Amino acid sequence: MPRHLAIIMDGNGRWAARRRRPRAIGHRAGARAVNLCIDWCVARGIGALTLFAFSSENWGRPEDEVGALMKLFMGALDREIDELDRRGIRIRFIGERTRFAPALQARMATAESRTARHARLALNIAVSYGGRQDIAAAARSLAEDVAAGRLRPDDIDEQLLGARVALAELPPPDLFIRTGGDVRISNFLLWQLAYTELWFTDTLWPDLDAAVLDRALADYAARERRFGLTSAQVAAPAPPDTDTLDA
Ligand code: FPP
Repeated sequence: MPRHLAIIMDGNGRWAARRRRPRAIGHRAGARAVNLCIDWCVARGIGALTLFAFSSENWGRPEDEVGALMKLFMGALDREIDELDRRGIRIRFIGERTRFAPALQARMATAESRTARHARLALNIAVSYGGRQDIAAAARSLAEDVAAGRLRPDDIDEQLLGARVALAELPPPDLFIRTGGDVRISNFLLWQLAYTELWFTDTLWPDLDAAVLDRALADYAARERRFGLTSAQVAAPAPPDTDTLDA
């Protein structure tokens, strides 16, 4: 069972276009699929879910679509927060939230603090998020420590950098799902996805159902995760480290 699932929710616009409806209607239908996905994670005992809701590049979309998405985020936060709180779900936001309107930033902060004590599901929403920007911010923070004399450049390794990217407190995603038919990562969690199993489906995000998610899970369960080792090594448990055993 994956401990952490990361999803690019793609296909809202096409879902709406097929019905000759405005794109905003597709996003609204997408919000319903978000609820379905949260329920499914809770039912399956998946501990962390990270959803790509708005990329740093999405600011470039037509003004009315960006406005509709902001309204949708605001409404969803107002509507769902009690339910998330009641169900023991902890919500957090990653990304450049300072780019959002102050009212929306305040809603995000309230949602985070109200649910901070929960542990049934860690729900992370990536907003104005970009993987390269995430890595650049981590590098900048290390550089600040070097400049202040708190860190030597030689001390910088994968652990130190990895501790400063988003979601560092969670296990990295075990499974990544992208709906909507495109087969790419689109600047989502670039650092965190290094050894994640990737799964793609043509299903458009608003058409998501439990059967699609169960298919992803079944494919994931059938894969062998080797993390750069050989098949024989992962099959056999590592021998005890004799140096540390008493004679
Ligand atoms: C990609 O589909 C989707 C988005 C840019 C927005 C994702 C937002 C939601 C699912 C709505 C609600 C989210 C929350 C957290 C309440 P697209 O517009 O790129 O679709 P297309 O590729 O068919 O045009």
